Amino acid sequence: MSFDHISSLYPTMERWMAGPCMHKARVACLNELHEPKNVLLVGEGHGRLLIEMLRRFPDAQTTCLDSSMGMLENAKRAMITAGFSEERCRFIHADALSWQPDEPARFDLITSCFLFDCFPQSDLERMIRHLSQAAKAQAQWLVADFQIPRSGMARWRGFVIVKLLYLFFRLATGIKATELPQHSSLMRHAGFALATQKELEFGLLFSELWQRDTALPQFKEGSSGIRASSL
Ligand SMILES: C[S@@+](CC[C@H](N)C(=O)[O-])C[C@H]1O[C@@H](n2cnc3c(N)ncnc32)[C@H](O)[C@@H]1O
Repeated sequence: MSFDHISSLYPTMERWMAGPCMHKARVACLNELHEPKNVLLVGEGHGRLLIEMLRRFPDAQTTCLDSSMGMLENAKRAMITAGFSEERCRFIHADALSWQPDEPARFDLITSCFLFDCFPQSDLERMIRHLSQAAKAQAQWLVADFQIPRSGMARWRGFVIVKLLYLFFRLATGIKATELPQHSSLMRHAGFALATQKELEFGLLFSELWQRDTALPQFKEGSSGIRASSL
């Protein structure tokens, strides 16, 4: 999978296809965040959330991790255009499924917006388990993504939109996923509890804030997979 082919088009595509909706989902829970010291933005793409983070948390150390060099360049350019110096963010070109941070349990905020939907369930399980090892005991995790609304016309509308998105992104980037994965049980197994949940666009988008609770049972290295429930 690579987003390099579409990295230069991605910001325009988002503007044309979704208007302000996706960005509303990215920022919907930001007021609920505890001030972080160390932020990891995974699959940050074009950098719109990065800019919000830099504005809100001027003292935080910020790291962007993305497997697409084109997307990282977009984010860096957006940050500089918005008036921030390059030193405000560390950019890492790596696969989130295998990336090893310099030190474990370092980040008190992880963000993943419109990233989980790129992965089939088994890869998402691996990724959440892997990244959760980079999170501090009291870390927060911000997740925004698509979902299929529960009922009515909104459900049909959501179903069609999500199908078309998968068709496009499978052709354009080669993502393996064909349907939205189920992340909630994986987050809970990684020791996170849902603190805030918001729905937008008639239930097509969600924004969630997960809080790590060290009292909850967590993944152990080598533990077996978790079964996904279907949509
Ligand atoms: C659909 S885009 C979402 C971009 C942005 N977060 C947003 O809110 O629109 C998915 C992003 O995740 C990145 N990505 C996909 N797979 C990845 C992986 N295995 N490791 C790190 N980044 C990945 C892509 O390069 C791309 O920037």
